[in-house]
Amino acid sequence: MSSYTPTDPRKVTTRSFAEMKARGEKIAMLTSYDYTMARLVDAAGMDAILVGDSAANVMAGYETTLPITLDEMIYHCRCVVRGVKRAMVVCDMPFGSYQGNSEVGLASAIRIMKEGGAQALKLEGGREIIDTVRRIIGSGIPVMGHLGLTPQSINSFGNYNVRAKEEAEAERLIEDALALEEAGCFSIVLEKVPAALAERVTKALTRAATIGIGAGAGCDGQVLVVQDMLGMNDGFKPKFLRRYAELAGVITDAVGSYVSDVKTSDFPSATEAY
Ligand code: KIV
Repeated sequence: MSSYTPTDPRKVTTRSFAEMKARGEKIAMLTSYDYTMARLVDAAGMDAILVGDSAANVMAGYETTLPITLDEMIYHCRCVVRGVKRAMVVCDMPFGSYQGNSEVGLASAIRIMKEGGAQALKLEGGREIIDTVRRIIGSGIPVMGHLGLTPQSINSFGNYNVRAKEEAEAERLIEDALALEEAGCFSIVLEKVPAALAERVTKALTRAATIGIGAGAGCDGQVLVVQDMLGMNDGFKPKFLRRYAELAGVITDAVGSYVSDVKTSDFPSATEAY
């Protein structure tokens, strides 16, 4: 068992992201949605924790990320923040909380910062949401962009395939990334795009750090969903995922042993009673 000792033990900020990009130090990010997991992830030396709207899938069992509400994201964010000392906590703005107009977006953003305690927010999209991004950043809230596969738009795309394989779409993605950087985003998630394109974007951006998921090694950092990399989600094994544990089996075995011990009156023993 090992935890990573960070080069810089201080609380991670947007400035730390810029410094890590500048010195070529990779940025490690994982999702978390609750206090217990966030404590463990933070203690292992994580740079950033994403309170992802993937909570809709892994915590609530929905098929898409669309149903999760602003109140639910604020709840998850508050739980995570209480468990974290060093990592930067970034919270996803859920579907419907910012797409309407920039005034709605800013009001939602302020609620997550005030009630959830996040340090930064993540929004999906490029130039189509640039006014909202500018307005949120203008009010002093750091923003992480998210391009490529954007799960909140699954109903427009119709599938979770790799994005921007064609040059025209790749060019649009680069333009979106440059627009987000120009608007002041400190970082941009690149999800499920070809590795060569992610590397091009990473090199084109001078300030915003790219964080890849299924986007190859050329990004400034990487993010995964914590339950996926811990192997808690048995049936989910896309090409980009590396499993660092197989907890589904470990948990089912342990729980099965408990059931069996209760049934046979093996638990509790005399030493486990008062
Ligand atoms: O919600 C999430 O977990 C995400 C990551 C996959 C980047 O947006």
